Amino acid sequence: MPDNHQPDRGLHLERSGNILIVILDNPPVNALGLRVRRGLLAALRQAQSEEQIHALLLLGSGKNFAAGADIREFNQPRQPPLLREVCDQIETCTKPVIAAIAGNALGGGLEVAMAAHYRLAVKGSRLGLPEVNLGLLPGAGGSQRSVRLIGAEAALDLMLSGRPLSAEQALELGMVDRLGLDARVDGLVYAHELLADRCGVRRSSELTTRLADSAAQQAAIDAARTKLPTQFRGLFSPALIIDCVAAACEQPFAAGCQFEAAQFQRCLASPQHRALLYAFQAERAAAKLPDTTGLAIAAFSQAGVIGGGTMGAGIAVVMLEADLQVTLLERDEQSLAAGLSRVEEFYRQRVSKKRLSATAAAARLAKLRGTTEYRDLATADLVVEAVYEDLAAKQAVFRQLDSHCKPGAILASNTSYLDIAAIAAVTNRPQAVIGLHFFSPAPVMRLLEIVVPPQAAAEVIASAVVLARRLGKVPVRTGICDGFIGNRIMSVYRRAAEAMLEDGASPYQIDTAVREFGFAMGPFQILDVAGGDIAWATRKRRAAQRDPQERYVQIADRLCEQGWFGQKSGRGWYRYEPGSNHGVQDPAVLEIVARERERAGVTPRPFSAEEIVRRYLAAMINEGANLLAEGIALRPLDVDVVLLAGYGFPRYRGGPLYYADKIGLARVLDDITTFAAEDPQFWRPSPLLIRLVEQGQTFASLNAE
Ligand code: CAA
Repeated sequence: MPDNHQPDRGLHLERSGNILIVILDNPPVNALGLRVRRGLLAALRQAQSEEQIHALLLLGSGKNFAAGADIREFNQPRQPPLLREVCDQIETCTKPVIAAIAGNALGGGLEVAMAAHYRLAVKGSRLGLPEVNLGLLPGAGGSQRSVRLIGAEAALDLMLSGRPLSAEQALELGMVDRLGLDARVDGLVYAHELLADRCGVRRSSELTTRLADSAAQQAAIDAARTKLPTQFRGLFSPALIIDCVAAACEQPFAAGCQFEAAQFQRCLASPQHRALLYAFQAERAAAKLPDTTGLAIAAFSQAGVIGGGTMGAGIAVVMLEADLQVTLLERDEQSLAAGLSRVEEFYRQRVSKKRLSATAAAARLAKLRGTTEYRDLATADLVVEAVYEDLAAKQAVFRQLDSHCKPGAILASNTSYLDIAAIAAVTNRPQAVIGLHFFSPAPVMRLLEIVVPPQAAAEVIASAVVLARRLGKVPVRTGICDGFIGNRIMSVYRRAAEAMLEDGASPYQIDTAVREFGFAMGPFQILDVAGGDIAWATRKRRAAQRDPQERYVQIADRLCEQGWFGQKSGRGWYRYEPGSNHGVQDPAVLEIVARERERAGVTPRPFSAEEIVRRYLAAMINEGANLLAEGIALRPLDVDVVLLAGYGFPRYRGGPLYYADKIGLARVLDDITTFAAEDPQFWRPSPLLIRLVEQGQTFASLNAE
């Protein structure tokens, strides 16, 4: 029993003989908010003042040691004691402080552990400094202590990648002193051993071994600086992280900390930090649907996947990674063998790249089986269909699923644009049918659109959201329309890009401008990666419904007619050497563009990079507003998360609607109105955008509703 339960402190204290156990207890993730920081200082004071206490053991309750600073406090004035002070007090404590880590020790959580005198990590725990993902750097001495503990190279990797270390890696690097199986039990054993051996305190700030080889430290810093422009293009905090590491190597600890504090403050005040924090919170909010509380959530242990093509095999991998038993169904033995070998190839690659051990890969594959019989899906809790995009083919699959799957199973289609309601309608259980729209490559892409037809049961939707989190995906609910949220917006900004192309901008200029804004790739590069034939098929499909007033730019069709589909055919908007994914500009493409401009009677005009980006984003923002007005997207943050997690929108700009708020909706509307003079059919300002401007409101105000 705790002898000093203090829920108001976000921690509680226990005693085991002469050891004071401090258990961080601030659900859900033991963030180090004000009351925890105060509680920690009080515990340290108690330990110092009570003679019977000889050592402190720091533990976390639940699944986390501590997930760092409380991010909800970032929008408020900072209140003392700051975490920096708490860490300094831990380190200067005259009685040994031992941190025993189970679960996540992230950001400030790891900084607390690094300030302790000894560290133990339980197998399965994760130790990281992910502040860079929030546009920050460690602000409580972490950049200085980490360099002294594990050297500049490893510390830079930890802080610049944001990737956590496993307990084993942490031991190997010297971040922790030993591994354990149970934080409390092994932590106490360790503490007693240290006391018995009269080890005393060992302060990370006073460690000098790692710094001794100054040439090695400098080489690591130089290497990181060289990578800055390519690896961290556009980002603010990485350069400051490197500066902090340099300070750690060159300056005394106190001066280094002072320098770090100043850089942390700069990050905290930066627009990038605010945008990245918004992105973090928006992703979590997107997974919370307003109408799902209190519903019975399905438990998933067995999944079926229909279709073993690239998408189906990728989805099977995603399911295996989440420890589900997977049955892959194909229409015949040959296709099945091909599908299964795609999954096996994925794991072969992971093993050969040393991302997974051969034993772990074998364990995953042991959970996979193949079949050509629908009856083998009778016990599946969930089935995802990923056959080719044809309504009749999908309906045939769903008829089979309806007659073979157990009651309560969730039946999902991975369609990118077909009407899920029309697929559900062929079953006797339309309430169990939804869309799960994965993005390619499924094991890599984080976005999962949960497509909700009107008949879908609330339990089914809620269960799909929980499943998505288990699969490690970012779920976003979308209603039904052609393309759902993501592809519908993409088709509009792509049209804006094509119009600029015909009017005078080169595809290379457009790609460069869009990349310089921060997108991972430009629209023409993406077309080459995805395959120009796919977008061509979509254009042909839509041709019949196309408004005759709509401006239709035919340049992409001319490329496709030559068989130039992009990377897979060695030629598209760019040219590719055999076996290379690196595209080079192609004068033949520019010739086609010039001919098509002539044919369309367009006199090319120059475009600046700024104008390109303005048009590209205005198209995106306007369509996002349309989706909100139609109720396809529930909240502006849903649109932002789709573009961030699935379409390479620069995370440090928060998403298109967040960005629109920042530049001002009036400016966006002004742009659209100006562009409308040349093409009123395409540039129709969204009524929602007009209303927000008239009322002086922002998209953010709709998130809050
Ligand atoms: N502060 C406050 N709340 C936090 C939090 C934090 N640091 N980290 C997570 N949460 C909240 C989430 O917002 C979420 O809240 P809701 O339930 O209201 O949505 C809840 O905790 C659970 O989080 P997840 O859904 O993300 O849970 P998970 O189990 O999937 O992941 C996690 C847990 C790995 C800890 C993940 O939440 C995470 O990565 N958190 C951020 C960690 C981080 O970036 N820490 C650095 C903070 S900056 C810092 O520490 C600077 C410094 O040096 C002073």
